[in-house]
Formats: sequence, structure tokens, C-alpha cells
Amino acid sequence: MIEEVLPSHVHAFEAFDHVPLSSLHPQEAALVARSVERRRLEFATARHCAHQALDALGAPWAPLLATPRGLPVWPGGVRGAITHTTGYHAAAVAHGSRVAALGIDAEPDRPLPRGVLASIALPQEITQVGELAARHPSLNWDKLLFSAKESVYKAWFPQTSLALSFEDALIRIDPVRRTFSARVLPPALVRAHPGLSSFAGRWTARAGTVLTAITVDAAPATGGEAAGRHPDPVALRRPPSHP
Ligand SMILES: CC(C)(COP(=O)(O)OP(=O)(O)OC[C@H]1O[C@@H](n2cnc3c(N)ncnc32)[C@H](O)[C@@H]1OP(=O)(O)O)[C@@H](O)C(=O)NCCC(=O)NCCS
Repeated sequence: MIEEVLPSHVHAFEAFDHVPLSSLHPQEAALVARSVERRRLEFATARHCAHQALDALGAPWAPLLATPRGLPVWPGGVRGAITHTTGYHAAAVAHGSRVAALGIDAEPDRPLPRGVLASIALPQEITQVGELAARHPSLNWDKLLFSAKESVYKAWFPQTSLALSFEDALIRIDPVRRTFSARVLPPALVRAHPGLSSFAGRWTARAGTVLTAITVDAAPATGGEAAGRHPDPVALRRPPSHP
């Protein structure tokens, strides 16, 4: 599923079944030592996905630790995002020279609990969800809207360290192209981070899961960077291709 929502310069890996807890590095296991087993299994499986994706990117193996707030600490020069829910786990990574921000989010394809839509959606989004549900009743558009907002947050927060409330981003879903757009509304946030004030995303839904993703491409390198004078830190640490 994950390839359907990400461009080819983003490396991603997904898993539907849990991997054993023993696959965690001891430092990673320590991050969830006090969590219930289900959380530890989802964490271990998502970490497995992240390591597979990082390997595909060419990053050397190292435990993927987290900040006290739970943000993964990606290797220098890497942008990444993780998601997990019942029966689905995924991670996506890219070189910071290609991608400025990345967000992925998976949710069970079931309706939001009663009353939640009103607390996470703007009035025009509630109208949109109603219209989509009338035209395409096979999908839970309220959950897709929620997932799109979570992807926005995951693309936004690691780059800004600023809170973003559900009413701070306006989502528009295209049911035919399987895309969505997001616009950050508070003028102060737009002024602070103009490059992250609007997002283009993709979505898919299959096997009981809705999945959304946002990729913000980095501005093309110019001058010295294009000439290789500021190479990507991950590229620097890649092992040589031959002995
Ligand atoms: C942080 C948050 C986005 C995680 O989403 P979720 O649907 O609950 O859970 P997911 O499984 O999809 O993602 C969890 C992973 O996100 C990552 N993560 C945690 N905090 C994060 C943050 N602030 N920014 C980016 N990624 C974060 C972690 O890797 C975590 O997995 P791990 O703990 O196993 O490493 C969500 O809990 C949250 O706080 N949302 C409120 C804010 C928001 O969405 N505002 C809407 C803006 S329009």
C-alpha cells in the first residue's frame, strides 16, 4: 500500500504482521519496557520497518531512539515518519536534500467514534465528509480526514516544534485522484513557516486500513550544493560499494 502514496525518492517499508520483540535493539526495547505487549509489538514492528527503509536509503544501522516526546531521532540528514495501527505498520525515509518534510498515517477503516468528527473537523470539512459519504458510501471519509490531519501533523511538527491543532489545517479530499490538499490557517504559523503552509498528499484504502501520506520536496540545490560541496550526511556515511 505504501508505494501507492509516496514518490519513488522516498524509501518505505510496511508490515502487516508483527515481528518478534527480540528484534528490538536493547536501547529501543528500553523505550517501551513499561508498555503493554500490544504497544511493544507495534513499536517493534514499526522499528523493523524503519530499519528496512533506512537500509534501502543507504544509512548505516544504528538503534532508532526517540526524544522524550516520542519523536524518532532519525540519522543526520534523514527525514522520516512512522505509523502503526492494528494490522498495519509502516515507515518512510528520505534524504533531507530531496525531501523537506514527510508524514504518513494509517488508521483502521472504521468510522470515527460518535462525536469525534465535530471535534477534529472544520465546518466545511464536515460538509465535505457528508457529501463524500453520500457519493461514495464504501469508505469512511471521516477517518480519512482524521488520518490526513495526522499526516499533516507528522510533516509539520518535526520541522517546526510548534503545536498544530486539528482546526489549524483545512483538508480537501479528491475522491477520484486519491489525493488531498492541506492548508495551514493561522497567519502567524504561515508567516513562521511559509514552506510548510500548504501540503499535497495522497491516500489509499485497502484491507481494512486507510493510509495517507505527505511528501514536501526540498528546494532544488543551487551553486555549491549542486556541485557537491555540501553532500548529504547519509551519503557521506554510506559504506563503499566495493572493498
Ligand atoms: C503524534 C501523533 C500524530 C501520532 O499519530 P497516531 O495516529 O496517534 O499514531 P501513529 O501510529 O500513526 O504514529 C505514531 C508514531 O508517530 C511518531 N511520532 C510521535 N510523535 C510525533 C510527532 N510529534 N511528530 C511526528 N511523529 C511523531 C512516532 O514514531 C510514533 O510511533 P512510535 O512511538 O512507535 O515510534 C498523534 O498522537 C497526535 O499527537 N496527534 C495530535 C496532533 C494532531 O494530529 N493535530 C492535527 C493537526 S491538523
